[in-house]
Amino acid sequence: MIACDAQTNLFTISTRRTTYQMKADRHRVLLHTYYGPRVDGADLSYLIRYADRGFSPNPNEVGDERDYSLDTLPQEYSTCGVGDFRLPCVEFEPPDGSRLADLRYTGYERRPGKYALPGLPAFFGGAEEWETLVIFLEDAAAGMLVELYYGVQEDCDLITRAVRVVNRGRETVRLRRCASLCLDFQRGDLDFITFDGCHVMERCLNRTPLRPGIQSVESVRGTSSHHHNPFVILCEPEAGEEWGLCYGAMLVYSGNFQAAAERTQLENNRLLLGINPYHFCWTLEPGESFTAPEAALICSPDGFARMSCQFHRALRRHLIRDPYQGERRPVLINNWEATEFDFDAEKLVDIARGATGLGIEMFVMDDGWFGARDTDRSGLGDWSVNQKKLPGGLEALVPRIQALGLQFGLWVEPEMVSERSQLYQDHPDWTLGAPHRPQTRGRSQLVLDFSRPEVRAHIYQALRRILDSADIAYLKWDMNRSLSDVWSAAAPAGRQGEIFHRYVLGVYEVLDRLRQDYPRLLIEGCSGGGGRFDAGMLYYTPQIWCSDNTDAVDRLRIQYGTSFCYPVSTVGAHVSAVPNAQTGRTTDMATRGVAAMPGTFGYEMDLRWCTPEERETIRRQVAFFKEHYALIQTGDYYRLSDPFRNGTYTAWAHVSQDRREVLVCLVTGSTHAAQPFQTLRLRGLEGSARYRADSGQIFTGDALMHAGCPIPLLPGDYQAVQIYFRAE
Ligand code: DGJ
Repeated sequence: MIACDAQTNLFTISTRRTTYQMKADRHRVLLHTYYGPRVDGADLSYLIRYADRGFSPNPNEVGDERDYSLDTLPQEYSTCGVGDFRLPCVEFEPPDGSRLADLRYTGYERRPGKYALPGLPAFFGGAEEWETLVIFLEDAAAGMLVELYYGVQEDCDLITRAVRVVNRGRETVRLRRCASLCLDFQRGDLDFITFDGCHVMERCLNRTPLRPGIQSVESVRGTSSHHHNPFVILCEPEAGEEWGLCYGAMLVYSGNFQAAAERTQLENNRLLLGINPYHFCWTLEPGESFTAPEAALICSPDGFARMSCQFHRALRRHLIRDPYQGERRPVLINNWEATEFDFDAEKLVDIARGATGLGIEMFVMDDGWFGARDTDRSGLGDWSVNQKKLPGGLEALVPRIQALGLQFGLWVEPEMVSERSQLYQDHPDWTLGAPHRPQTRGRSQLVLDFSRPEVRAHIYQALRRILDSADIAYLKWDMNRSLSDVWSAAAPAGRQGEIFHRYVLGVYEVLDRLRQDYPRLLIEGCSGGGGRFDAGMLYYTPQIWCSDNTDAVDRLRIQYGTSFCYPVSTVGAHVSAVPNAQTGRTTDMATRGVAAMPGTFGYEMDLRWCTPEERETIRRQVAFFKEHYALIQTGDYYRLSDPFRNGTYTAWAHVSQDRREVLVCLVTGSTHAAQPFQTLRLRGLEGSARYRADSGQIFTGDALMHAGCPIPLLPGDYQAVQIYFRAE
């Protein structure tokens, strides 16, 4: 619910359990008064304190009112260079070379439904579930209008934010930065949680108390990156899964980002989230506008579990689009780890045949099927079938796969080109790269300049030709390097600061066209695993390959971090062969299955080499996954242990929305003699309900949540167990 008081300029957003409030004061400065547990019917601006602080200057119009400073007041959207020395949201550079921004409130609008952002991914929904508030701010001197958008989805406690900047003046203005979200907290004792790592070890949780100064995570790689995720949490120091105030903030964007938290002289905190100002400069001619990507906030008054469940719901219902919002996705087998580039049609058909009789529903042909693609040093860009490997092309291969009862899926990497390719020979200037400088290679490939419409058009036509040539149900859209040498041959010098962002917009545009032209095509995002695992991509690709690390034990950590924001249905996870290619570790087939189930589920191996016992395990795994699909994919997901702190076991549970069904999953660590007896306390159950375990034993919800469920003794390293409960 949005309440606007035009007399006092007080704006109060209420969700089921939270309140967000701001107020334009007598100087028309928009102050942030409160965000936290729900408080009804109160003007919370009494929380704002005024004090004359040395070296915190005063706006001209306040005269000698020395206790009024933009530097000390909580701002809703911070200014630049006019007296607030904390992190600025926005910076304007008119022809006079000044780089300032001073914003004053001019009005508001309330609209039913959720606003949309042209060309950008955004949460969506109709007037029955969403409301929009737009607040207008202006910088009169620069002639700039700033529109702050707030989307409110009460049920999920979700508040989305976006910003549109319009040049209403007569001069060209360069926009040097434009954050999507600013959140000023009138407290300093908060922890900053980020999700960091590297290729094959993404989204590992890091938590540190905020110290004075700025702490930030960011990407300048052109993608959201393996290294940091555009999702962060600020929380009370004592916050845990079930207690403590926490705030999750995500950017619905797939390119360079910055998430920065600043602890200030007043022991307060400011959180800023948005496009990274690094190499960003957007020219706005009079009348033109720029829209910053959407950010989304969820505050949970009682811990991370609730916050995650709310993010999961919000993403599932309001970001993932039909038909794959609700439809079951296929259990698949992918040939990459089994063959890499070394395959031909016969080998692929044999692998597919090996997957029959197990309940597997789709075969995905990975990298290596096109152009001169026998290694990762050539072929990208030439999107026609390699006839030596696959005589007769997809037209011949796909029916053979389908005859085995499997749907067909295909790997592509449309944003890249190999120098050893016809496309590069024909259009070397279609790659990113500055003049008179040798281009940096990544995985021996260059990046196509997706900021250029003719490049996008060419690639789109190539994709169309492939998709129209056979019955292709699924596309794995990969992207295997970071952007460097970011310079476009098609843009003038003064516009090069737009290329990083225009590249991302270009990727979104092609993906959106694909979605429109092939509405039933299931697209899986991938960037060397989880290098672009973000809500921006999820708007176009309802699932993303979570990591190139398929080791079951490492995956528990990667998936643990991922789960803080992203729902199970978005997490690409497969069982792969042992010893694992990344770690050399050997785990049981049963364990690998349990670790891959909180995801899209499938296999990444040649099943022909499995023993009859392993095949039987696989058959049962697939059947189990399908039987509990709705519970796993749409139930609430609860982390029951922290794999970074607990080496003994990693556990989690899926609880159906009506709390009638529960699936507990647990994988042990390396074993030791004389194992202690342990119990696992569950979360999210109905206290008074009676739950029958698959063993027949009956427990009350309260017993399972407070006293716990006994963990069976599991001798051996990395053993797994799943316990299914149903309320009687
Ligand atoms: C990186 C992906 O993450 C892998 O799964 C595989 O598709 C390779 N690329 C193929 O080059």
